[in-house]
Amino acid sequence: MTMFLNGKVCIISGAASLRGIGFAVAELFIQQGASVIVTDVVMEEKTISDIRAAISSHTGIENPDVTGYKCDITNLSECTQLADAIIKKFGRVDVLVNSAGIVQALPFLEVKPEDLDRLMRVNFVGTFNMCSTFAKLFAAAKSGNIVNIASVAGEVGGGLLGGSHYAASKAAMMSLTRSIAKELGALGVRANTVCPAMTETAMIDVMSEERHAALIKAIPLGRPGKPKDIAGACLYLASEELAGYVTGATLDVNGGVFIH
Ligand SMILES: NC(=O)c1ccc[n+]([C@@H]2O[C@H](COP(=O)([O-])OP(=O)(O)OC[C@H]3O[C@@H](n4cnc5c(N)ncnc54)[C@H](O)[C@@H]3O)[C@@H](O)[C@H]2O)c1
Repeated sequence: MTMFLNGKVCIISGAASLRGIGFAVAELFIQQGASVIVTDVVMEEKTISDIRAAISSHTGIENPDVTGYKCDITNLSECTQLADAIIKKFGRVDVLVNSAGIVQALPFLEVKPEDLDRLMRVNFVGTFNMCSTFAKLFAAAKSGNIVNIASVAGEVGGGLLGGSHYAASKAAMMSLTRSIAKELGALGVRANTVCPAMTETAMIDVMSEERHAALIKAIPLGRPGKPKDIAGACLYLASEELAGYVTGATLDVNGGVFIH
């Protein structure tokens, strides 16, 4: 079987939760031959050993090549230290997947300045920090690619789970990704966005059962997304073999809930 990320060094932010999209990406990338670095604002020794154990039990791979680092992406110097540590250990980086993010469901008229600041700092400034830190390495190496996990909310506006500030932060991520694709394409760097809709992770735990059921009725494929659905799209975009000519794209993985 072809391994699409054989020998690649891939970093995934927001990968601490075993139910999350970042974790599903880490697991799939391991199965595809990558060395994987998982990072999150919460990343204790136990988090890392739980991630390794879960990947091992799901895939049958003994001692999966997963390294964990704690990094708050809102802090640029933590991102720089993370990149330094990865270069010291692996010598290079090939793929960055930004899955770290936060959500808040609030009507527009109730969004306070501190809510807006928090959402923009994590989802937009944090993603910007990670992209700028790693894109410098990619540009110097004349190779590398970025996959940013935004949201259908960034395309259609908030209301599903996140409010207007969440939607705007995700739209900003999409725009950032397109700019990186334009500016750094000539340096061998690709950048693409994945837009999930409702996906079964801890992020949607706050949703009521009635709301959950009503939302599912509106999805043409009749079910919410699973983290591995999003991971598959990330693998496609991360792979040079599959997507070497794809940059600046926005890939919807939404069960058909938004077709345009
Ligand atoms: N679950 C959904 O329905 C859904 C839909 C559309 C988009 N998304 C996006 O997918 C991405 C992954 O979300 P998920 O559903 O796996 O939820 P999740 O909560 O499991 O994952 C988000 C991770 O980001 C981490 N994080 C938060 N702030 C951070 C910071 N400052 N620095 C580093 N890490 C930080 C969290 O600790 C968490 O582990 C998010 O960007 C989210 O907005 C999710």
